[in-house]
Amino acid sequence: MARAKIAVLISGRGSNLQSLIDAAADDNYPAEIALVISNRPKVKGLERATKAGIHQLVIDHKDFQTREDFDAAINEALRVTKIDYVCLAGFMRMLTPQFVNDWRGRLINIHPSLLPAFKGLHVHERMIDAGVKIAGCSVHFVSAEVDAGPIIGQAAVPVLPGDDADTLAARILEQEHKLYPACVKLITENKARLSGAVVPFDSSVIASGALSNPPSV
Ligand code: GAR
Repeated sequence: MARAKIAVLISGRGSNLQSLIDAAADDNYPAEIALVISNRPKVKGLERATKAGIHQLVIDHKDFQTREDFDAAINEALRVTKIDYVCLAGFMRMLTPQFVNDWRGRLINIHPSLLPAFKGLHVHERMIDAGVKIAGCSVHFVSAEVDAGPIIGQAAVPVLPGDDADTLAARILEQEHKLYPACVKLITENKARLSGAVVPFDSSVIASGALSNPPSV
């Protein structure tokens, strides 16, 4: 069966992009990374795409007068490449409601908290300051609000004595790299799908281990 075509949108380091590239290197994985778009030139994530031989584009938001024009340029690139799903992986630009609506159910994000808690920026520092004992990451369908939308999967980690924002971020990132490929697999195999405001899945998904913590797909 043809593999789903994924575009990954990045703004920097691209370690989550790498986890998707690595998963898709297996021919049995149901998705291929067909395009990487960065809104910033010369970032590490673009080097990763080059190394993997993936078609890449820099669409720099600074070259556009409005958010609408910027999003239209991204949309056009996605259309030309016949993309099925868009994965945001550390893409630090807000997308317009029009774009989000056009890609409803096919636009996915990863965020380093157990949503709906701790949306936005400086998440790890804010969790340490709040004294939370369990942290984690979430993969979700994107809705118009930042870091919000129906949750596809989550992984939890403990906050340990002596943690600072960096040690906590590293522990969460390790789970992000497992969770994102696992969730993209569920979605592209049609085992989890947007239904109104939630993403239901049946017991076969639970049995597969895809949603255990850490995910094992
Ligand atoms: C990741 O921790 C991701 O969860 C976060 O940015 C980092 C990107 O790292 N995303 C957000 O905070 C979205 N609001 P990466 O470039 O190495 O994948």
